[in-house]
Amino acid sequence: MSDESATLKYNGQDIDLPIERGTMGAPGLDIGALRSQHGVVTVDYGFANTANTESGITFIDGNEGLLTHRGYSIADLATHCTFLEVSYLLLFGELPNTEQLDKWTTNIKMHTLLNEEIKRFFDAFPRSAHPMAILSSATNAISTFYEAYHSPSDPEAVEQSAVRLIAKMPTIAAWAYKKSIGQPYVYPKNDLEYVENFLYMMFGLPVEEKKIDPVIARALNVLLILHADHGQNCSTATVRFVGSSQANLFASVAAGMNALWGPLHGGANQEVIEMLDRIAADPDATVESMLARAKDRNDPFRLMGFGHRVYKNYDPRAKLLKEFAHEVLDRADANDPVLDIARQLEEAALEDPYFVERNLYPNVDFYSGIIFRALGFPPRMFTVLFAIGRLPGWIANWKEMIEDPRTKIARPRQIYTGPPSRAFVPLDER
Ligand code: CMC
Repeated sequence: MSDESATLKYNGQDIDLPIERGTMGAPGLDIGALRSQHGVVTVDYGFANTANTESGITFIDGNEGLLTHRGYSIADLATHCTFLEVSYLLLFGELPNTEQLDKWTTNIKMHTLLNEEIKRFFDAFPRSAHPMAILSSATNAISTFYEAYHSPSDPEAVEQSAVRLIAKMPTIAAWAYKKSIGQPYVYPKNDLEYVENFLYMMFGLPVEEKKIDPVIARALNVLLILHADHGQNCSTATVRFVGSSQANLFASVAAGMNALWGPLHGGANQEVIEMLDRIAADPDATVESMLARAKDRNDPFRLMGFGHRVYKNYDPRAKLLKEFAHEVLDRADANDPVLDIARQLEEAALEDPYFVERNLYPNVDFYSGIIFRALGFPPRMFTVLFAIGRLPGWIANWKEMIEDPRTKIARPRQIYTGPPSRAFVPLDER
């Protein structure tokens, strides 16, 4: 905390607000004592201008289109690291050396199995269940096997829970998919690396040997890294909110998954591909008509995969994904007509005054679905892939919150607009 302050004039009084500065980015005015000392609260719908915490994990400069994790650029991490390496960086603050990475990877591999009882839990869902519902329910459900590890104030238990979550999430995700197509669950194979193991459980069968294509594994590795963390987004803020009540890590992460599922957040990747498919299939749903609908104030439709609360410039992840989409489709010898439609839609939107004036650019979800599909994933699994990627970010934020002595239970205020106090009217007089 610095000695600087800003002055707010309210009710004829000068109120000093301490200024908090981080290493990069906008400074913050500390309004924490405003209500207790001056009887006034602040209003900020969607927390668009409110820092909920200090954080040393991720930095985003939305005007410059910059994203770093623990100081490293997302492009460097996506080019040079494995997803587990980036997970380690997010959780422990530094990139691991060889020995630390071996230990971390081995530890994760030791926990990939789910308790056998959990199989019956998967069986109970209808075949049509959305895999995001299964993912969050199963995350909560597996917590019941590890109640001895629930205490947020026990660092060893927290680390063990983090390892279990990261290790088991691909198994849960793959089994949610197997459930939806009526195939037998495939057990993890621990001589495979993290991403390969996930692809093996997703696309393998117990009756045959499954070879994992290294091009697909590398592509998925990059995609998971690009989703690994993103500051105080809706799901991460949810994980922190829930965790601030001292709820255990599993419960907090399950809540974050539910927040991610929404179409304005991680659910957008499924919506984007459905929108592009509609344009490809329906002659009335042209690029022009989609843009016209997106601009129409009377139509709730939004151009999915466009716009971002923080980026007022090209989302750096979308930039990497756009190049990567071509690379993956060329290498996989796959041809997806929606890639061309996506490009046309992007070009048209970036020249349209409505989108230009509002600084609406493609976000991470615009191109990711095209790549996920080229890798063989069905659209209903796209948000699940986002969740596997975001998991280390959720855990790192939860851990940072728990370890911060300034953390309090999250409990915003409100401006009450209901009826003033009034006399009760008995039932027979109403
Ligand atoms: N299509 C049409 N208009 C849009 C869009 C869009 N995709 N996004 C924002 N706008 C308009 C919005 O109507 C508003 O216009 P006006 O000023 O005339 O009222 C203006 O742009 C500002 O938008 P906002 O809703 O105030 O911005 P926000 O920061 O509250 O919302 C957002 C951010 C991501 C929810 C929003 O841009 C959106 O709904 N995008 C589509 C869904 C999407 O792609 N979500 C993925 C986000 S990135 C990854 C993730 O978080 O999971």
